[in-house]
Amino acid sequence: MSIQGTTKSASSEVKTLPYRLYSDPAVLTEEMEKIFASSWQFVGHISQVRNAGDFFTCEVAGEPILVIRGKDEELRAFYNVCPHRATKLEKATEGQKKILQCGYHGWTFNLDGSLHRAPNFKDVDDFCAGEACLRSVRLEELASLIFVNLDDNAVPLAASYGDFFDDLGTFSFLGELKKVDSKTRVIKSNWKAFIDNYLECDHCPIAHPGFMATLDMSQYRIIQCENYSIQGTIVKPEKQVGSIELDKAEMQGGRFYWLWPNLMITIYPGPGNMSLIQMVPIDHETTLGVYTYLFRDENLTQEEQDLRVFMEQVRDEDVELVELEQIGFRSRAFQKGKFSPTEHAVLQFHEMVLKALNIEA
Ligand code: FES
Ligand SMILES: [Fe+2]
Repeated sequence: MSIQGTTKSASSEVKTLPYRLYSDPAVLTEEMEKIFASSWQFVGHISQVRNAGDFFTCEVAGEPILVIRGKDEELRAFYNVCPHRATKLEKATEGQKKILQCGYHGWTFNLDGSLHRAPNFKDVDDFCAGEACLRSVRLEELASLIFVNLDDNAVPLAASYGDFFDDLGTFSFLGELKKVDSKTRVIKSNWKAFIDNYLECDHCPIAHPGFMATLDMSQYRIIQCENYSIQGTIVKPEKQVGSIELDKAEMQGGRFYWLWPNLMITIYPGPGNMSLIQMVPIDHETTLGVYTYLFRDENLTQEEQDLRVFMEQVRDEDVELVELEQIGFRSRAFQKGKFSPTEHAVLQFHEMVLKALNIEA
């Protein structure tokens, strides 16, 4: 594995983000515009839209989005909004369409977003077809993962995350995976608290006994890279499962990626697998955790089912912690926290938040 990054320590002199950034609704309003509406957001896996007409809908930075594969095989994203009178166009979360039709006045659209027919404008001479197309959104697909960005001027996806996609590309099974399941969980904490939690493992010995029993924590490393970080270790020899080639790469015990701002990707050893976690703000102190599981087949083997239970247990342990943290963020007791030397990836995240919001540390 060749990751260009750094494992530098955080200084205990440096303080965390001010807690008001976790408990102020005005901060979330700023974040929606300056962070979520201007960064690449994961929306789905290529297995969801393999054929012409396949589509799914989602929300990005509070905007309704439609992702659909055209008759020309091109994958596109649009605001899921009718140009006639703003009605949400496609109500289903996924499906197959030959043509898109608005349920209000019946306008129809081709799969490339162009207007097909506007029944109530038949005899109108100055009807401007250009304004009647669906409004497109930037979409890119890399390593079988589909991302959109509401910012038309955003840096392309590959260039936004250093050598992340090169590293991910070393897993040859990505294209063979399928989205097997997706779960959501409402978490009573600010979205940033869960990212903080994911980016350090100082809490692992206290909070995750199962994780500690499986992985060799003496080898645990966290590496900061450009707009992302990676952490991981090796599996304890007696716990190894599947066909792990021990001399092939480091971190065979699992790789835990974080991508700015709110996406976490985990790949565990054994048969091809990937799980994604997104933290989507509902309000300043409530977050929707979206968990997406990708495996080779819907019918999970016993080993894959065990892996899923293992992942969910670790996540539940983390959710309890961040909900307790939110109680303290609201308190007047302290204004900021401290970093340990091994919380440098959290520091990286905090520096990025401050920069995006244009706040002095
Ligand atoms: S709002 Fe969609 S056709 Fe009128
Ligand atoms: Fe954790």
